[in-house]
Amino acid sequence: MSKYQFVFVFILIVLVSNTFAANETLVEYCTYCNNATTECSGETKCNSYVPGQCTEYQNPCNGKILGGTVMSQEGSRYYALFYEDVNCSTGALIRLNYTCNACYVDDGAYFPCPPSEAQILLVSLPVLLLILFNIFIIAFCILFVIDLGDSTITVKKTLLYVNYESGRLDDRIPNLESTNSNASDAAYIVSPGRNGMYAIGHKVTLGDPGYYSDGSYRSESATHRIRPGGRFVRGDNRRYEVSLLLKDWQEWKPGMSSSGDIIFQGGKLAGGGNPAYFIATKRNSLIFRMPNNNETLLLLDDFRPYSNQWFDFRIDVAWRDSPTGLYIIYMRIPSIEKDYKLIKEYKNYHTYLPDNPKSVMGYSKWGLYRPGQSLENGDIPTRIIYHDDICIFDIDI
Ligand SMILES: *[C@@H]1O[C@H](CO)[C@@H](O)[C@H](O)[C@H]1NC(C)=O
Ligand SMILES: *[C@@H]1O[C@H](CO)[C@@H](O)[C@H](O)[C@H]1NC(C)=O
Ligand SMILES: *[C@@H]1O[C@H](CO)[C@@H](O)[C@H](O)[C@H]1NC(C)=O
Ligand SMILES: *[C@@H]1O[C@H](CO)[C@@H](O)[C@H](O)[C@H]1NC(C)=O
Repeated sequence: MSKYQFVFVFILIVLVSNTFAANETLVEYCTYCNNATTECSGETKCNSYVPGQCTEYQNPCNGKILGGTVMSQEGSRYYALFYEDVNCSTGALIRLNYTCNACYVDDGAYFPCPPSEAQILLVSLPVLLLILFNIFIIAFCILFVIDLGDSTITVKKTLLYVNYESGRLDDRIPNLESTNSNASDAAYIVSPGRNGMYAIGHKVTLGDPGYYSDGSYRSESATHRIRPGGRFVRGDNRRYEVSLLLKDWQEWKPGMSSSGDIIFQGGKLAGGGNPAYFIATKRNSLIFRMPNNNETLLLLDDFRPYSNQWFDFRIDVAWRDSPTGLYIIYMRIPSIEKDYKLIKEYKNYHTYLPDNPKSVMGYSKWGLYRPGQSLENGDIPTRIIYHDDICIFDIDI
């Protein structure tokens, strides 16, 4: 439901309740329209008056203005003062103290009784129901509108789901690469996983060639050979979900390299150069970085209190090669949070921004990549990380 419909419903409620309230407070005064003004017979015509207010008094039968009047009501008794002038400024000529519905022969007129409470209820029941219905609609709208932030994005299709429950490094997914490093424990299966039995562990020891591949100390799984599920191109919309655990992670101390460990490259861009986005540890915090936009987002100031606990991430991306893209970044610490927490939304953002303009596609990597770190710098020699439940969805934004 649009905001216009919401406003329309709101105005309708105000109108209905105002009309209803206004009708309730008016005093009705009726006159028999026969030639003898002192007879209670024939057709009647009525006018309504705002109680306690000087009003022009008009004969409802012939429209003739007769002066001014002030009318009021107390239960079933009605009072009226009639004045010669329409402004009620001269002394009152006639004072009425009438019981409702009783016609007084002197005037050939009466005040209809106010509706009984049962009648009011009966008359107003549809109105009450309408108001209740409208309140319900409004509540629904508010819930729906509040939900919009989350639910305008819908998952169309699961492109890739890696949960390692096969107990294998490729989880029986054709062309899923587990690592390019040679050490037998550069990648290995660990148990338990984030939700199930198994997860994948990646290990990198600085200075050991067994953990060196593609020009760096790294051990990473990659989806670039999985077509089409592991890839994205300009114009695609993707949701990335990943859980990871920093295994017995030794804390960073001042003096060590502060380049950080890259632990999830959801938006690796083919053609070389920087990924569009990655998640990394930096000193003792977790960050989300888009290097070519020169933007760093702090995800968690200090992860040390969550030693050996899982972290869940969800990243929605509209991949655009112009400032029309989108990043929405969520995080959850399952040991203390039930739901994902929105960290930040980057709207109208240039997301597909490769170093190589000929880059035709992107893909995802998870594991451990330790750029700029070395034993000479005094960096922690061995680090281990677990990953599980990697999901890539095609989404509607
Ligand atoms: C209010 O009064 C007018 C005429 O006096 C009537 O037509 C209308 O139906 C009333 N509305 C409600 C909600 O009772
Ligand atoms: C009132 O009187 C007029 C003529 O003076 C007449 O035409 C009309 O029919 C009468 N109306 C009634 C209700 O008696
Ligand atoms: C009623 O009051 C208005 C201003 O308050 C004045 O202009 C008008 O002449 C008065 N009418 C009579 C009949 O006294
Ligand atoms: C109106 O008339 C009733 C019955 O005659 C009387 O009890 C009541 O006091 C009167 N009210 C006023 C305000 O004159």
